Amino acid sequence: MIAFRAGLRARSLPASRWAQRPSALLPKRSERLPNTVRFVSESAPNASAPAAAAAEAVKEAPKEVAKRATRKSRKGRYATSLALVLLVGYVYGTDTRASIHRYAMVPLIRAVYPDAEDAHHFGVDILKELYQYGLHPRERGNPDRNGDLSTEVFGHTLSNPIGISAGLDKHGEIPDPLFDLGPAIVEIGGTTPLPQDGNPRPRVFRVPSQNGMINRYGLNSKGADNMAAILKQRVRDFAYATGFGDYENVEQRILNGEANVPPGSLVPGKLLAVQVAKNKLTPDNDIDAISRDYVYCVDRLAQYADILVVNVSSPNTPGLRDLQATAPLTAILTAVVGSAKNVERKTKPHVMVKVSPDEDSDEQISGICEAVWNSGVDGVIVGNTTNRRPDPSQSTLPEKEQQTMKETGGYSGPELFDRSTALVARYRSLLDQGPSQASDAAEQSPAEQPRKVLFVSGGITNGQQALAALNAGASVAMMYTGITYGGIGTVTRVKQEMREELQKK
Ligand SMILES: Cc1cc2nc3c(=O)[nH]c(=O)nc-3n(C[C@H](O)[C@H](O)[C@H](O)COP(=O)(O)O)c2cc1C
Repeated sequence: MIAFRAGLRARSLPASRWAQRPSALLPKRSERLPNTVRFVSESAPNASAPAAAAAEAVKEAPKEVAKRATRKSRKGRYATSLALVLLVGYVYGTDTRASIHRYAMVPLIRAVYPDAEDAHHFGVDILKELYQYGLHPRERGNPDRNGDLSTEVFGHTLSNPIGISAGLDKHGEIPDPLFDLGPAIVEIGGTTPLPQDGNPRPRVFRVPSQNGMINRYGLNSKGADNMAAILKQRVRDFAYATGFGDYENVEQRILNGEANVPPGSLVPGKLLAVQVAKNKLTPDNDIDAISRDYVYCVDRLAQYADILVVNVSSPNTPGLRDLQATAPLTAILTAVVGSAKNVERKTKPHVMVKVSPDEDSDEQISGICEAVWNSGVDGVIVGNTTNRRPDPSQSTLPEKEQQTMKETGGYSGPELFDRSTALVARYRSLLDQGPSQASDAAEQSPAEQPRKVLFVSGGITNGQQALAALNAGASVAMMYTGITYGGIGTVTRVKQEMREELQKK
């Protein structure tokens, strides 16, 4: 409107005033092109000069035309080159195979954000932002297409056996960009019923010499309702983008499988896991209240999940790990399984429990397995961060890292690998023996007891390790810390290394 009025006013100015008006846009007369034809009245000290100038201008005209053409074609070449550079940059920069992600972006982000939590927020925000404009990194060429890594989980054929562990996308803001990095499973959360801040900062620390981390986030969460709203909108966006429109019942149609994609991931061959936890302030000794916390989350989120994960293993919520004792665990898991069965959706989400690597005595493991059988959960994620500090002994670490090692919190990274793999093997063997005689499930015939599914999480950073963890009895190998050190191409690389390893055999 303002521009429109200004235009009117400009047009109404008398022509003479335009002529007098010194314009910043016009070059000064003395600067005008030498071959510009001038009117006689403008200057002309003598009569022959204009004629000579006109002749000169006529002579120069073809040259000027040629010059303009050259300039135009040069501009065209620049524009084409720029477009090409941008295109190549786009294709390269958005390809998870590009080594820039590992060797340039990771060190750069670490230098720019000395605080690991700031780096985490940056990573989430930038992925979210880039995804909106289709500029996010993605796995190109569908390397999983020939099915060489495919695996069966809960009756779904997954495109590969790699997952991204909980905690990377705490609030469910970036499941889609994470799926595009190549994993078949993305676990979002952990979320708590009510929003909570978690522990005071700083609360995430790097241990670079070990590619490790220590965190005591303390399950910072925006709450289950917030996550449900995000996931609901995601389903509606998916429906709109796939031609289902924007009608009132569209969400239910997608959740009931009309789009032929799993209702959680919304991507064929992939599954979305949603992790739930209790609020810190819910009393540790009130199992009913704790069960209600988990059920609250399940009631809000189950419809958007392919898998629900019950977190009883984060080391940074006081009392949480005590819930792995058989009786409380059975109570909580039974409540969750019951609630998950009530979800208004054709297919119900499967339920898994994520256990700690530190509760690893025979008694503790068999107690957990008993709770698994008694409650009817479908599987176990082994394990989480550890309260123990790894060898090599701290004296070999740089001074700063020796201090970091003393921080309270859960340790993660490659040093966890041996322990988590050994633990998977123990869970596999125990669960495959079926329910103990003491278990409520013991009465069922073996045919009624589907094999419990195991995922492994702890220290996986390369293809060989992923294969070893899978061979120990897991169906999916999940990663977190490996991605923070290896960059967004890590999943693609690990899968490629798995293929190479398999071809050797
Ligand atoms: C910064 C950070 C935050 C995490 N947050 C969660 C979480 O919210 N819930 C959870 O179950 N595990 C959480 N974890 C644990 C990871 O999901 C994973 O189980 C653990 O780090 C071991 O795997 P890794 O060695 O591949 O990282 C977190 C880990 C890190 C490093």
